[in-house]
Amino acid sequence: MKIRIDSSRVAGKRDPMIYGHFIEHFHRQIYGGIFDPGNPLSDEDGFRLDVIDALKKIRMPVLRWPGGCFVSAWHWKDAVGPERVPSFDKAWRVEEPNTFGTDEFIAFCRKTGCAPYICTNAGSGSNEEMSDWVEYCNLKNEGQWAKLRIKNGNTAPHAVKYWSIGNENYLGGEIGAKSAAEWGRLVCESSKMMKRVDPSIELSAAALADLDWNINLLRSAGERLSWISIHQYWDGLWQNNTYADYEACMAFTNTLDSQVRKVRGLLEAMELDKKIRISFDEWNLRGWHHPNVDKGLTPEDYLTPRDLNDENSRYTMADAVFTACFLNMANRNCDSIGMTNFAPVVNTRGIIFTHEKGIVLRPTYHVFDMYVNGLGETVLDALSEDIPVLNVRDKEGNPAETSALDIVTTLDGEGRIVIAAVNKDPARKHGIRPEFLDEKKPRSYSMRTLEGKSPDSCNDIGRTEAVPTSGGADLDYKAGDEIFLPPHSVNILQFN
Ligand code: AHR
Repeated sequence: MKIRIDSSRVAGKRDPMIYGHFIEHFHRQIYGGIFDPGNPLSDEDGFRLDVIDALKKIRMPVLRWPGGCFVSAWHWKDAVGPERVPSFDKAWRVEEPNTFGTDEFIAFCRKTGCAPYICTNAGSGSNEEMSDWVEYCNLKNEGQWAKLRIKNGNTAPHAVKYWSIGNENYLGGEIGAKSAAEWGRLVCESSKMMKRVDPSIELSAAALADLDWNINLLRSAGERLSWISIHQYWDGLWQNNTYADYEACMAFTNTLDSQVRKVRGLLEAMELDKKIRISFDEWNLRGWHHPNVDKGLTPEDYLTPRDLNDENSRYTMADAVFTACFLNMANRNCDSIGMTNFAPVVNTRGIIFTHEKGIVLRPTYHVFDMYVNGLGETVLDALSEDIPVLNVRDKEGNPAETSALDIVTTLDGEGRIVIAAVNKDPARKHGIRPEFLDEKKPRSYSMRTLEGKSPDSCNDIGRTEAVPTSGGADLDYKAGDEIFLPPHSVNILQFN
C-alpha cells in the first residue's frame, strides 16, 4: 500500500482528550479498582499507587465519572462529608457505600494529573441537584454548597470544567428515560441553571445518532452546549458473554465512524459544527457483561456473572487492533471529535486489571501508551492507495470485507512524520510504501510494534504475551522502500 504524505495537507490538531477515559461505580472499577483502602499498594487516601503510576505513564488527559447507568439514580450529596450513609444503587442493584464521592474523585484526578469530567443525574435527579453540584465544586464560598465543600476540608474550588447532563436517557432501560421532547426541555433548564452558577463550564448532553433526539436537543439547548455525547460498544455482551472472535472484531471496524458521520453531518446542517464538538464519552469493543439486571432474582442470576468481565485472557490482540483502529478514526476526525473516553479504564473491560498484589496491563493499555507517547499532535490528510482487502466473517458468520491496513499520519512537535499503521490481517504481513512529497526527505525511521505471538495473545497474572517491542531504531530509509507490518499488529513509525 502506498501512502502519499504532504505535511502541508493538515486535517487538524488533535485534542489530547481524544485519549481520555471513563470510570463507573460498577463491579470493581472504583472499590477494589482505583480505590482500595487498606491495601499495602494504596496511599494514605486509599488510592492504588500502581494504578496511578500506570495512568500517569499514558498521561490520561480526562476522566469521566461516576456513570454510566449508575449516575441516573445516584445523589451526589449522599457521598460528601464525614458521615457517609450507604444507599441502594437502583441501576446495578447493589449497596453503594458512598465512601468514594466528589472529593475523592477530585483527589484521584489531581494525583493522576487528569481533568475531572462529571456526568450528572438526569434520571431521578433534578436541575437543581445538578446546579448545586456545580456550586459545590466551583464556587469560591458563596452559598451553602460551596461552604459545605470548605467545611469538608476543600478550601479551594475543585474547578471542574467538563460536565455532562445525563447518561443515555434515550434508552428505555435507563432510570429516568426521557422522550426527545422531554430531553430538550430538561437540558434547556438544567444547562441554564448550571451555567448561571459557572458560565465558564463546558457542557455536554447525552445524545446518539438519532435526528429527532438531536434536533430537539440542539434546538432547545444548543446555545449552551460545547459538546454532544455519543456512546458505542460493538460486541454486545451485556446478556450473553459469547465473545466475537478475532475476525468478527475486524468486521466491527467497518462501523467505527458510523455514528460520528451522522452526528457531524447534523451539526454542520444546523451550523453548530464550529461551536459544538463530539465527545465519544463511552466506547469499547466489548460491551460489559451484566445479565438479568432487570429481573435476576438470585446473585447467581445477576451479580456473580459480572466477575466474568475480569477474565484477562479474553482481552487479546483483537481488542488492541480494534482500539488502535478506533483511535485512528478519532485522529482522522479530530476537527469534530474533541474527546473520547475508553469505557472503562480499570477492571471490567478496562486497559488495567487490579488484583490484591498488583496490576495487569492488558494489550489495550499498550495501544494508549504507543499513541499518547508516540503519535504527533497534528493530523495530516495523507492519501492511501492500493489498500489491501481482508476477507473475514462477522459475528453472525456472514462473509465481510474490510481493509487489511488502517493508517493515520501525523506531524509531531519536532516536525517529524509519525505514522500509526495497523495490520488487521490475522495471518499475513503487509507492506506500506510511504511517499514523502515534502522537499525534505527522511533518511531513517524507528518502529515500535505490538503484535503478540497470535491474534489471541493476552496478558494476565504471571503471563505477558503482548507488550510493545522495538522494531528497530534509525533504520535506513530511501524513497520507494517497502516497510512490512507483522500480522495482527499495531505499529508506530517515526521518520527522522
Ligand atoms: O454496560 C455499561 C453501561 O453501558 C454504562 O453504564 C452505560 O452508560 C452504557 O449503556
